Amino acid sequence: MPATVIVGLQWGDEGKGKTTDFLAEQVSMAVRYQGGDNAGHTVVLGDEVFKLHLVPSGVLYPHISCVIGPGVVVNPATLIAELDMLAERGIDTSKVRVSRNAHLILPYHVAQDAAMEARLGGNAVGTTHRGIGPAYADRALRIGLRVEDLVDERSFRARLARVLPDKNALLARLPGDEQFELEPLVALAMAWGQRLRPHLADTVWLVQDALAQGDHVLLEGAQGTLLDLDHGSYPFVTSSNPIAGGACTGGGIGPLQVDEVIGVMKAYSTRVGSGPYPTELTDAIGAGIASRGNEVGTTTGRPRRVGWFDAVPLRYAVAVNSASSIMLNKLDILSGIDEICLCVAYEIDGRRVEAWPSSAEQLAGATPIYERFPGWSEPIHAARTLAELPENARRYVSALETAAGVPIVLVSVGPERSQTIERAFRPMRRRPSLAPAPNLGSASSRGPGDLS
Ligand code: IMP
Repeated sequence: MPATVIVGLQWGDEGKGKTTDFLAEQVSMAVRYQGGDNAGHTVVLGDEVFKLHLVPSGVLYPHISCVIGPGVVVNPATLIAELDMLAERGIDTSKVRVSRNAHLILPYHVAQDAAMEARLGGNAVGTTHRGIGPAYADRALRIGLRVEDLVDERSFRARLARVLPDKNALLARLPGDEQFELEPLVALAMAWGQRLRPHLADTVWLVQDALAQGDHVLLEGAQGTLLDLDHGSYPFVTSSNPIAGGACTGGGIGPLQVDEVIGVMKAYSTRVGSGPYPTELTDAIGAGIASRGNEVGTTTGRPRRVGWFDAVPLRYAVAVNSASSIMLNKLDILSGIDEICLCVAYEIDGRRVEAWPSSAEQLAGATPIYERFPGWSEPIHAARTLAELPENARRYVSALETAAGVPIVLVSVGPERSQTIERAFRPMRRRPSLAPAPNLGSASSRGPGDLS
């Protein structure tokens, strides 16, 4: 039962969509396990570019069933818009399923997110204003509404009636003073429920059945390890657990069911939103990387902050995810830079520190210690083996691999699927004891009816 987790090793936007795309033909099911429509996955398929926020990028492949797991917070308006957009572009969405247990992002969560950020002023987290934090907070407070409530008007109204007065009282004290009325929200939610009803499921059994059948299940993390609520630079983090462990809680599988964890990282780093960022580049080199790498937030359109690769959190990320292999993306974006820096340690209070200090205060005082690598000038889009890369590029990849301590098995040298160096083996084929899934990659092996 091959279950593979794809997890970001940096601050998100590592190109996890390309990893899914690359593995898609072997996969029968793709599962989103945390986050919400704060995420943005850009997938390039031939001439077409798809930007997805909630639906797993596996939806672009007719043979893949897509699951939005119980650990995701779902804004129904976004989900419906995304399903409609996909249908308009000829993509079959009939196999998309969303967990009845997933919590809802309602309009007051979005208002609360923006208002709380405004109140924080210069200390704002820089959230995506999608209501993610307030929805997860309500889940923990046990006052959240869930996807299943969308198809039960009585329960939806009763639950909302209990919550709304407190929400309005809170919002009245925050900038914007937005207020919400019960009945219009109930009407909106019931319309959402009607539209989404065919997609609702107890997704845990879908995933468990797929694994029991020997199907290959891909669990797609959103954001990245350094934005993890427990492992990132708190409070400049998201409100869920993007790490591989989140795939268990948010997808509904046990740790022993995870067969492979593919960590995804870029050849440099980016970060959206506020928070300490020791290797940030604010010079022309950074601007060049941002422009060549098209580093603009998929969800917010905000320019991403750009910096050199930081190997200090990489070691931490590999450890907490138990990453077994790595996909390195966007190596081509570094072509043309004279000297490439790799942060191998920090200096904090005059001491050399090699362990990632997840405290935002310590990080803010960290000065990066760099190892310097001569760059390469030629474009590398055409390379299909490591041997075809310029020697300086090979040296840099090798240094990243040494820092990570696990093999870099895939190196991306361009946005298209073919622009990938596949090194030595496909990660999922390396466990010979596993019987190959019987219907791997077969478009006709599963029908829409199999899911409900
Ligand atoms: P939230 O997830 O909207 O609450 O935002 C919390 C932090 O996570 C902010 O710094 C956001 O910019 C960041 N963030 C959320 N989603 C993504 C993502 O998909 N990529 C990169 N950063 C993200």
